[in-house]
Amino acid sequence: MKSVLASTILGIGHHVPSKVVTNNDLAKLMTTSDEWIVQRSGIKERRYIEHSGIGASDLALPASKMALEHAGITAKDVDAIIFATLSPDHNFPGSGCFLGDKLGLPGVPALDVRNQCSGFLYGLSVADAWVRAGVYEHVLLVGAEVHSTGIELNDRGRDVAVLFGDGAGAAIIGAAKEPGQGLKALEIHADGSGAKELWLEAPASAYDPRLTKEMIDEGKHFPAMNGKQVFRWATEKMPEVARSVMDAAKVTAADIDLFVPHQANLRINQFVGQKLGIPESKTVTNIEKYGNTTAATIPLGLSEAWREGRCKRGSNVLFAAFGSGFTWGAAVITL
Ligand code: UT7
Repeated sequence: MKSVLASTILGIGHHVPSKVVTNNDLAKLMTTSDEWIVQRSGIKERRYIEHSGIGASDLALPASKMALEHAGITAKDVDAIIFATLSPDHNFPGSGCFLGDKLGLPGVPALDVRNQCSGFLYGLSVADAWVRAGVYEHVLLVGAEVHSTGIELNDRGRDVAVLFGDGAGAAIIGAAKEPGQGLKALEIHADGSGAKELWLEAPASAYDPRLTKEMIDEGKHFPAMNGKQVFRWATEKMPEVARSVMDAAKVTAADIDLFVPHQANLRINQFVGQKLGIPESKTVTNIEKYGNTTAATIPLGLSEAWREGRCKRGSNVLFAAFGSGFTWGAAVITL
């Protein structure tokens, strides 16, 4: 296969489970309130899987089919899968292998990406390189999470539990068809000095045994976050990296038709939008409906926005994300 000049998003899709969990529902399980959650995060409700047995790859399957249809191709045209998730169906193998099997794709390579809230952008950087180098023609890039089975729905876990929801987004990455289209700039970063500010400590290969009853009693198998510290980093790094990719792509805020930020906190995104000079009318916000779906937020947000007519082929779209790792990144793409 020959190399191509630019890759783009040929199709996009999403899927969320049908079970709606409101802030008032959570207030029955822990000491919290609709007012606290809305004021601090902007979240009103989130989706949870309907029953046990539904993993990240199950949410990814309908999202992937929607993206394939949007791209006008079939599963048989997929040359590689990249699956971004922090909540894989099982510890190993990766969710990409489970998804490939569900799509009926024996032999198609499947790469799992473990970069949390920045996972979609990390995956996009790999998909873009593969497509431009002519390694693969169509890459299925997924971000999917099932958080609801891994959060502590009581007072001890309330600071994290109220923020997260389940969902999936999927994109087909392939060669741009028209001159001027495609990924213009992308940057990804990491700083492991913040690794323990937002992490899930156990089970851990660093401990022998990896998980004990004591660890479970202490809740070490649930995510833990230093919210204020993450907030501080996110509001510094997201505008910084977004500006950097806009400069690299030679676009200004006025050229951006749609801004799709990671959905961790409405206040973070309002701050970032203001710093960049991008109005709320051009910014995708769906955190009120879905909470934080980590690797899924960006493709889920783009998929909804595209179907609502908020972007189309030729639109300039800015992505930006920050999360556990710490990891962060941004991209400018002309659809
Ligand atoms: O996608 C991954 C990246 N994650 C993020 O970007 C998250 C970044 N951080 C944040 O969004 C915010 O820090 C939070 C929304 C997580 C928290 O907001 P905050 O304004 O930083 O609140 P806080 O953690 O300082 O907590 C304030 C108070 C505390 O009580 P005291 O110490 O003031 O008495 C908490 O114990 O609110 C209490 N609190 C709660 N109250 C009701 C913590 N969680 C809850 C809760 N309901 N769920």
